[in-house]
Amino acid sequence: MIGQNDNINLEVNDKKKVILGFYGLFYVVIILIIVVVGYSYLGKLETFSRGDLIPATLAADTTAKTNVDLPVVKGTTTAPVDLVKEVVSTPDKVAKGKTLFETNCVSCHGPEGKGDGVAGKTLNPPPRNFTALTGWTNGPAFSSMYKTLQEGITARGMASYNSLLPEERINLILYIRTFNTGFPVIDQKEISTVDAAYSLSKGFKLPNQIPVKMAEDKILEETKTATEKVENITKSILNDKNEKGAAIFNKISFDVKRSVTALAGYTKWNENENAFVKFVSVNPVAKGFNVSQTGITSEEWGIVFQYLKNLFAK
Ligand code: HEC
Repeated sequence: MIGQNDNINLEVNDKKKVILGFYGLFYVVIILIIVVVGYSYLGKLETFSRGDLIPATLAADTTAKTNVDLPVVKGTTTAPVDLVKEVVSTPDKVAKGKTLFETNCVSCHGPEGKGDGVAGKTLNPPPRNFTALTGWTNGPAFSSMYKTLQEGITARGMASYNSLLPEERINLILYIRTFNTGFPVIDQKEISTVDAAYSLSKGFKLPNQIPVKMAEDKILEETKTATEKVENITKSILNDKNEKGAAIFNKISFDVKRSVTALAGYTKWNENENAFVKFVSVNPVAKGFNVSQTGITSEEWGIVFQYLKNLFAK
């Protein structure tokens, strides 16, 4: 018999079913969301890594980039520097040093050299304060400051200024020395130290530089000219049957082109007739010449030599 209590139980069971059903659906929806989000994320992974995480410059396809070649640089010879003269402070040198300081150094070392420039505020260690002479890394001596400017103290935030001329670096030092009267004197020992380290009194030379591509083109062009020359001379010798010189050459050579190529690769044969005869008779086969040249008179050697000399001079 179904009583009141049973009815209630049934209702509770129904409710339980509804609730369970709801939770089931809930899990399905959660899983669906995970799957959908996951898919769209995977789809975008490519864009994420290429566009967002790696800076554009690195992500760029470098293989497609056209060659970045060396620039054309005219060679320079840096004149020898007379250190003894250069280290003597004059108002003119100090003024030049000041101008250089204002363009290159003020941002870190400050307008009064106190190491309080705007760009230096965040640096640790801070830029050197030139009004104090203690606690320097390389030191306030002339040779030490020169070393600092030439090589930098890069690990501590002070760059190398080796792109400046030696005189410019010295002018900078002379200006910095005006921030304090106690800088050590620049004596002969200081000068010798700098000269020994950077051989300034000898001067140095930087050769010309051209782009690799340009060098390649030049070599190709030269090779082409050389090949063309060999072709033309060979053609003349084969065609100038009426020329005495050409006729003799055809007699001494079994492979005209090979002989001409050999001649083109060695310029000293054309110094005199003897040098030419010697060139032909040493290792003749490799040069396309007949092994024995018994039928050729000395007069004929003279004619063929003169003929070739003219041909090659064209
Ligand atoms: C980007 C900031 C910055 C600029 C620009 C800069 N310096 Fe420095 N400089 C520093 C820092 C930082 C130090 C301290 C390095 C250390 O403690 O070893 C320093 C140190 C020095 C020292 C002392 C080295 C020593 O022995 O302690 C000299 C000299 C010097 N700088 C000269 C110059 C000159 C000259 C210029 C301009 C041509 C210049 N600096 C430009 C940051 C700078």
